[in-house]
Amino acid sequence: MSSLLEVRDLTMQFGGLTAVDALSFSVKKGTIHGLIGPNGAGKTTTFNAVSGFYKPTSGQVMLSGAPIHGMAMHEVARRGLVRTFQHSTLFAELSVLENALVGTHMTHPPSVLSAILGRDGAARRAARDRAMAALEFFGLAHLAEERAGDLSHGHQRALGMAVAYASAPELVLLDEPFTGMNPEETQRMMSLMRKLRDDGTTILIVEHDMVAIMGLCDHITCMSFGKFLAEGGPKEIRHHPKVIEAYLGGARHVA
Ligand SMILES: Nc1ncnc2c1ncn2[C@@H]1O[C@H](COP(=O)(O)OP(=O)(O)OP(=O)(O)O)[C@@H](O)[C@H]1O
Ligand SMILES: [Mg+2]
Repeated sequence: MSSLLEVRDLTMQFGGLTAVDALSFSVKKGTIHGLIGPNGAGKTTTFNAVSGFYKPTSGQVMLSGAPIHGMAMHEVARRGLVRTFQHSTLFAELSVLENALVGTHMTHPPSVLSAILGRDGAARRAARDRAMAALEFFGLAHLAEERAGDLSHGHQRALGMAVAYASAPELVLLDEPFTGMNPEETQRMMSLMRKLRDDGTTILIVEHDMVAIMGLCDHITCMSFGKFLAEGGPKEIRHHPKVIEAYLGGARHVA
């Protein structure tokens, strides 16, 4: 298995604060890869710097061997890397289907989105079909006409994933996808993620639900205070002294 994503010496500073500090790790194609660490470790910032939401202060990000650092988010998306946000950034006033339609156009700059969404004809129908397929995959088709802001938290998280999936990504970055889901919803989402992986989508996931992380991931990277701490399989990570210490020093525990 080759590396689909390679993060090398990634650093992200905000004024005097180094949120991500020379972090290196790689994600193999066809795997579910976990990125864990205590609150404030720099996980979301890593996602922001990898996905083009932020421009890294320094370091390289390679997707299928080609550099993507410094590119805008839609350019990164066009190359097959799409992310969801930790806190919902759905368009609350738009319908569920309209949100998924935005997902099908994530590979375009925001300035032309409205023009695209307003267009007619075959391209529009194709986008609609893809958006509906994404909603079906995540069990949201029956809610297509609902206002996104009216959905339950669990359904909003699922819609966030459907929006990302609608762009047919090669690598999807999920930031705390199980937040607000009950145990049954979490279980259902976990099996959908396994299905996504088995269909060929690579997944990089940040999640505090350790039962889900340990049950889902093929490989896990743990970070703390912006730095790489440890990596390995779920068993290895669960029993890793450095990982246990990092979590015991913080608010949460490794299950
Ligand atoms: N835009 C920003 N400006 C300034 N500081 C920031 C910014 N984004 C994040 N930080 C800081 O960077 C550090 C890492 O934050 P980050 O959100 O990446 O952590 P996290 O691992 O995702 O935490 P959590 O598990 O709570 O979501 C924190 O100290 C945070 O306050
Ligand atoms: Mg975060």
